Order: sequence, then structure tokens, then C-alpha cells
Amino acid sequence: MEREVAGEKRPSNLILVVDDEPRVRESIRSILEDEGFVVIEASNGQEGLKRVSADKPDSVLLDIWMPDLDGIEVLRGIKQLDADLPVIIMSGHGTIETAVKAAKLGAYDFLEKPLSIDKLELVLRNALSQRALLEKNRALKGEGGRESEFIGVSPVITAMLEQVRIVAPTQASVLITGENGTGKELLARSIHSSSRRSGEAFVAVNCAAIPETLIESELFGHERGAFTGASSRKMGKFDLAHCGTLFLDEIGDMSLATQAKILRVLEEKTFQRVGGNRDITVDVRVVAATNKDLKTGIERGEFREDLFFRLNVFPFHLPPLRERREDIPKMLTRFLSEYGQIYGKPDLVFSPEAERALVEYAWPGNVRELRNVAERLAIITAREVIDLGMVPSSITDEGSGQAGAADSAVEETDYRKAREMFERGFFTRRLDENEWNISRTSDAVGLERSNLHRKMKQLGIRHPEK
Ligand SMILES: Nc1ncnc2c1ncn2[C@@H]1O[C@H](COP(=O)(O)OP(=O)(O)OP(=O)(O)O)[C@@H](O)[C@H]1O
Ligand SMILES: [Mg+2]
Repeated sequence: MEREVAGEKRPSNLILVVDDEPRVRESIRSILEDEGFVVIEASNGQEGLKRVSADKPDSVLLDIWMPDLDGIEVLRGIKQLDADLPVIIMSGHGTIETAVKAAKLGAYDFLEKPLSIDKLELVLRNALSQRALLEKNRALKGEGGRESEFIGVSPVITAMLEQVRIVAPTQASVLITGENGTGKELLARSIHSSSRRSGEAFVAVNCAAIPETLIESELFGHERGAFTGASSRKMGKFDLAHCGTLFLDEIGDMSLATQAKILRVLEEKTFQRVGGNRDITVDVRVVAATNKDLKTGIERGEFREDLFFRLNVFPFHLPPLRERREDIPKMLTRFLSEYGQIYGKPDLVFSPEAERALVEYAWPGNVRELRNVAERLAIITAREVIDLGMVPSSITDEGSGQAGAADSAVEETDYRKAREMFERGFFTRRLDENEWNISRTSDAVGLERSNLHRKMKQLGIRHPEK
């Protein structure tokens, strides 16, 4: 039976049972319903994945041994859709090998068939409380899961959000451009959640992060035996995004060969798994993003013009933060209060001088940089009012400059320490994000390589594994 989801308040004890045997599903259902759980069922792996993205269950009981798509593959798919969803593996004749594999993929627990009612209930209750805890932390941090709101009051962003409302419900492909950290992914998520597909999956693929040799199997999946090491069938991102939105990030970094394949899926709405010869039909809405100038890519023969036109049906350009400074005060207030909550300092505010300096700064790392600065300040401040003296000098030295020189002298020692702490955290995090690649990091923070090296030495920052 299909369960109606839209408009209904979701219970927080929704359990999905994936098992090919109707009698097993039926008996689990009757046990769990007696205990006050709400149960939905799927009779195979594909259906299970669909239920996960459509119904957002709180936990999954998954049979490991099913014909067609086996439990391990379903587990892998579920983890891609929702990494925090606790999945409990049920197995009748489990081998150590499968158990290890499942554990590595992040299975929450194992139950042996025939199931013990007490054990089943205990494991489920633990899984649900872990889930609730994770969700709460997520909500506090304002990241992932339930996404954060796209903040913007400047005319350019207001107009853009107006357009999002118009475009989101359509099937049109969207291309989002903008510098690093301007909010491309957040905008993509907002488009998905204001679309008719909001109940379905939002699947993000970072095209730059996947090695060339694996990108096809990532995107399209592969059949068992397609190549050495392909021991079972694998679902691709297009499979997972079926009925939902596929977010192709860093699209400017894809090889021409992959571009050709993507174009084909977009045009024909079908694809083949690697090593397969069956056409699989999909219904996905594509939102793509890049910080590169695709027009230049086209001129250089690195980006297909036909793919560009296909993706660029509806373009959005996110201007850098320095071109929409009106958005900064609201972002500052929001982020400071979010991080204040997390770090147990709920009433933080900026002094007017500090706010002015932050508004005038150029923000080469855009909103991401601003968010991180707000977090650092929330961590290091001992007072409720964050004044100019606490703002890193790399920020105050720029902009108008004169303001604040006198103020910061007052608290020199404190301030120095604060700045060092800030810088150490800031650079370590940027380096980490860029896998300790110096050129990439210096690009990301807008510093020369030599300056970055100097900073690292001065602050004693070293690669953690070296
Ligand atoms: N308008 C906004 N309102 C609230 N938060 C925002 C806004 N824009 C960006 N952010 C936040 O800033 C951070 C960076 O945003 P996002 O990851 O969407 O940027 P991006 O353009 O995809 O960056 P990159 O090019 O580096 O991948 C995220 O934490 C995001 O939530
Ligand atoms: Mg991004």
C-alpha cells in the first residue's frame, strides 16, 4: 500500500522493512506495530531505496540476502542518500565476510534470523535515539539534513530568490555559477526543496573529486563483473536520483568523454550501467554548478558547447559577497547566533565598529569564510559583545583601515592571542578542506603560496600525518 506523505506530520518512529519474503515482513510488522512503531515495507532493494528517499524512515531493517540487488548494495545506496540513517542488517546465514563489509559500510547493528522480539525492539530503540541525537546536533549546526535557509536581502539576491520560486517547480535544468563559497550548493538545495521533487532524493556528485577512471561507474553504476573488482552490481548516482534532483558540482572539471555520456542521458533520459547493455530509464532534474567560466572552457575545447546549452536552460549567477554587502549584517547575526547556541553563548552580538569592519572586508572566501570567522569569534570570545579588537587583523587591516587601530592597541596581548588562535584554526581548516595541497589552499584563502608557507611556519602548522 502506498503511504501518503505530503502534508502529513511524519511520525518519528517510522521503520522501513526491506525483505523479499512477505511472511517475514508481515511478522515484523505485527510485532513492531504492537510496540507502537509505524511500519512501511519494501519487497526488494530498488523499492527499498525508493522508500528511503520518498518516505524518510527513521530506521531500516534490511535483509542481507535478496535476489536482484543484494543487501550490501542497498546499504551502500542508503548511506549515500542519508549517511546518518541507522540500518539494521537481518541475516539468516550471514558470513563473517558480509558482516564485516556491512559494518564497514556503516550498518548500525545485526540481527540474526529468526528474530528475537526483545532484541529487535532493543536494537531499534537504540537506533532511534542515536538518530534523534544526530538530528539535533545537525539542526544546531545548521548543516546538512534539514538544510539552512538561504539568507539574502540585497536586491540581486532578492530578485534571484524570486526567480527560484518560479523555476524550482519546473523540470528545467539549472546552471549555477559563482566564486568559491558563494552558496552554489545551498542554492541548489533550495531549488530542490521548493520543487515538486522535494520529497525525493537530492543526490550530489562532486565531478572534480572522482578519479576519471571511476566517474562512469559512480554516475551510472556497474553490473557484476563489469571489471576486475566489480563483484556485485552497483547503483550509480543517476539511479539514486531517480525522481529527484541530481546536483552535478564542479561541472567544469569533467572530461570530454564523461560530458558526452551525461549529455546523452539528459537528452535520451536513459543510460546503461558500465558492463551492462540494458537501457535504464531515469527521471532526474539536473542542477549543475561551477566556479569556472564555461564559455572560456568552450573556447579552449575543454567543455562541450551542446552540454553547456543543455544545462544552461536556466542560469543563476551568485555574485561574490563583496558585491552584495547588504547581505553581510544579516548573515553575521544569523551565524553568530547559531554558533553561539552550539558553544553555549546564546547572546552574542557584534559591536557596531566590529560589524562595520566585517561589512567592509572583501571576503575572498565569500560566505564560507564569513561563516568560519563567525564561528571562530563565537569560540574565542569571553564577552557577549564582540568588539573590533577581536576581529582578526587580516580583516581590519583591509577595508577602510584607519578605524580601530587605537581600539585594538588597548587589548594587545589578548588580541594577539586571539588572532593567533583564529589564524591557526582558520588555516588548519582551509588546509584540511584542500587535502593539504598548498596551491589549492592559497587559492582558496586568497594568499600567495609563499605567504601561506610563512604563516604555517609562524603558527607551527604541520600536516597531521607527517
Ligand atoms: N546566502 C546564504 N545564506 C546562508 N548561508 C549561506 C549562504 N550562502 C552560502 N552559505 C553557507 O556558506 C557555506 C558555503 O556555501 P556553499 O557550499 O553552498 O558554497 P559553494 O558556492 O558551493 O562553494 P564551493 O564553490 O567552494 O563549492 C555553506 O556553509 C553555506 O551554508
Ligand atoms: Mg560547492
